[in-house]
Amino acid sequence: MRILAAIGALAIAIGLAAAAFFFGGFYSIAGTTEDPAVVTWALTRVRTASINRHATATAPASFNDPATVQSGARAYATFGCATCHGAPGVKWQKFSEGLHPDPPDLKEVAGELSPAQLFWVIKNGINMTGMPSFEQAGATDTEIWSIAAFVKKLPVVSDADYKTWTASLDPASPAK
Ligand code: HEC
Repeated sequence: MRILAAIGALAIAIGLAAAAFFFGGFYSIAGTTEDPAVVTWALTRVRTASINRHATATAPASFNDPATVQSGARAYATFGCATCHGAPGVKWQKFSEGLHPDPPDLKEVAGELSPAQLFWVIKNGINMTGMPSFEQAGATDTEIWSIAAFVKKLPVVSDADYKTWTASLDPASPAK
């Protein structure tokens, strides 16, 4: 019994210390704080597992059509993906280098994520990172599938293609 009481007292002491540490403002939420490797590892595993489990939608039959990919390029430009991730021939905005975690190069991600996984991430965003939910930003499912189709093709889209496909956009017009 004395051992159990000691364990209980210790647990309470640890709880109080943790509360004092976090609610007392000692934990730094600075975006510049480097996470310990184990935290980065755990967050990446949780993200990947969560996306794998949730991404169950079926891509439309038109997913690989050039028309879909090209309208995806326009939606990609209009919704501002390039500001954080860059695009073929377009450098990301400097501020995105201050995001933590930093936005990945989608050309590399394209090979790793399935169409359903891309759709799910773009639609829902990734909580507690800079990746927004584009459903909440007003994109329709059709637009999101087209963006996913464009991202999937990123490894083979040239700078000139992207420029041509997005040339008709008026840079001054608002997203929607
Ligand atoms: C404000 C900056 C920002 C904007 C705008 C943004 N993203 Fe992201 N995106 C991020 C960040 C940060 C991550 C990394 C999240 C993480 O590491 O878990 C990310 C992650 C992703 C991923 C997942 C990568 C992976 O490995 O799982 C995809 C796909 C993606 N973004 C696509 C897009 C598309 C398409 C758009 C436009 C419709 C867009 N993003 C707009 C910041 C942004």
